[in-house]
Amino acid sequence: MDITKLLRPHILHLKPYASARDEYSGTEGVFLDANENPWGSITKEAYNRYPAPHQKHLKEKIAAIKQVAASQIFLGNGSDEAIDLLIRAFCEPKQDHILIMPPTYGMYEVSAHINGIAVQKVPLAADFQINTEEVLETITPHTKVIFICSPNNPTGNLLSVTAIETILANFQGIIVIDEAYIDYRSDASWLTRLEAFPQLVVMQTFTKA
Ligand SMILES: Cc1ncc(COP(=O)(O)O)c(C=O)c1O
Repeated sequence: MDITKLLRPHILHLKPYASARDEYSGTEGVFLDANENPWGSITKEAYNRYPAPHQKHLKEKIAAIKQVAASQIFLGNGSDEAIDLLIRAFCEPKQDHILIMPPTYGMYEVSAHINGIAVQKVPLAADFQINTEEVLETITPHTKVIFICSPNNPTGNLLSVTAIETILANFQGIIVIDEAYIDYRSDASWLTRLEAFPQLVVMQTFTKA
């Protein structure tokens, strides 16, 4: 699957903003053109400098811990920013949908509504597992992102691997597995399956463990 085909076309063709900082890979000096303070920081941390725009060193450290490539990592201001950006990148306002499985984390729906995106809801079954057939029947060509929270907030259980595999095999869109609570079950992460499923996004956060 070519996920660039799933992106909203104007995002795909966007020319990224580039500053002089993007072209310089060293660490010496200050950027006077960016108004960094040449007299230094008032603390021992370099608060007179802009943070690294591509977070290269941080990504390399996280990559080593999580056993993924640094190039596979996106760092957001919390998972909530990643949820918003995923919806903004893949869903066309007033046209596309996301699919969620309540009861689940409330921000998927809030972010969808902020972006003018409709929300399809397929409630979890009585045992808090995925209603796989109902999910597959609910998907339309306008379903662009499916959010699966595992371990799920608020029910606390892991969602069935087989059910998620079935959805991955039958859905031509982005599947986000929100692993905000995975540090309580570090044996069960979907990070190990990233290579097998190009449309898979795994979200983790520093705010829970
Ligand atoms: C399931 C789930 N995902 C994401 C988040 C948001 O995490 P962050 O603090 O990284 O924005 C929360 C926060 O409560 C959550 O429960």
